[in-house]
Amino acid sequence: MELLKIKELSKNYITKKQVICALKNINLTVNDNEFIVLVGPSGCGKSTILSIIGDLEKKSSGKIKFSKDNIKVGYMFQEDALFPWLNVYDNCMLGLKISHQINDENTRYVKMLLKKYGLSNFEKSYPNELSGGMRQRVALIRTLATKPDILLLDEPFSALDYQTRITVSDDVFKIIKEEKKTALMVSHDIGEAIAMADKVIVLSNRPAIIKNIYDIKMENKSLPSENRKNEKFNEYYSAIWKDLDHYEC
Ligand SMILES: Nc1ncnc2c1ncn2[C@@H]1O[C@H](COP(=O)(O)OP(=O)(O)OP(=O)(O)O)[C@@H](O)[C@H]1O
Ligand SMILES: [Mg+2]
Repeated sequence: MELLKIKELSKNYITKKQVICALKNINLTVNDNEFIVLVGPSGCGKSTILSIIGDLEKKSSGKIKFSKDNIKVGYMFQEDALFPWLNVYDNCMLGLKISHQINDENTRYVKMLLKKYGLSNFEKSYPNELSGGMRQRVALIRTLATKPDILLLDEPFSALDYQTRITVSDDVFKIIKEEKKTALMVSHDIGEAIAMADKVIVLSNRPAIIKNIYDIKMENKSLPSENRKNEKFNEYYSAIWKDLDHYEC
């Protein structure tokens, strides 16, 4: 079922010096439980799309329509943005606390997620005592705690080294699929996009327009690290590589 429809979305940033046209006529549909990854050159407008969907930034024109009212949006950014002075448990409960949603059910849900994803023994640990991958898992659990309808992930792995990135993508992917979440993720990494996505959207240089959309169809689709070994992976990789504008705007 359709969760979000974006129609003819455009965005101009108006600064004192200039008008920056960031997005031009973006059309996009996001279905329930779908994992969509946006790829495109640096500065083309990827984060702007997420910010507008999350209502952190105003659009210049076009329509953003969710299929139901009071939709809850969850974010995860490049830096895990955990608070160093709060332990894992308190970090995970923070969103609930701010939105006055701490109750038995939500507390149980957070505890269940911590347990299920191997963090129960670290509830009292502080972020600096965790690996980068564990911190990203905590950040995702904190995002999931408020039970968002859609997750917006802006390059959530780019602060991690390559090796960690591969395992953390598996972890995050597993959590998102098991918790049956809809996700819209931005990535610089074509391989990561293909390995994780149901659909990859290729954006052009700024102002971003949609250049191509790929439905990623693989037999025996599995965890991202396994999908990288799939015979279709390289085909998608070269096609998307050809589509991408390989210079910065
Ligand atoms: N608040 C702002 N005011 C003015 N210009 C902005 C603002 N935010 C973004 N821009 C400009 O809009 C364009 C798109 O920015 P955006 O951050 O969406 O790109 P991006 O694709 O996410 O880039 P990156 O890959 O580097 O993260 C850039 O040229 C940027 O300089
Ligand atoms: Mg960005």
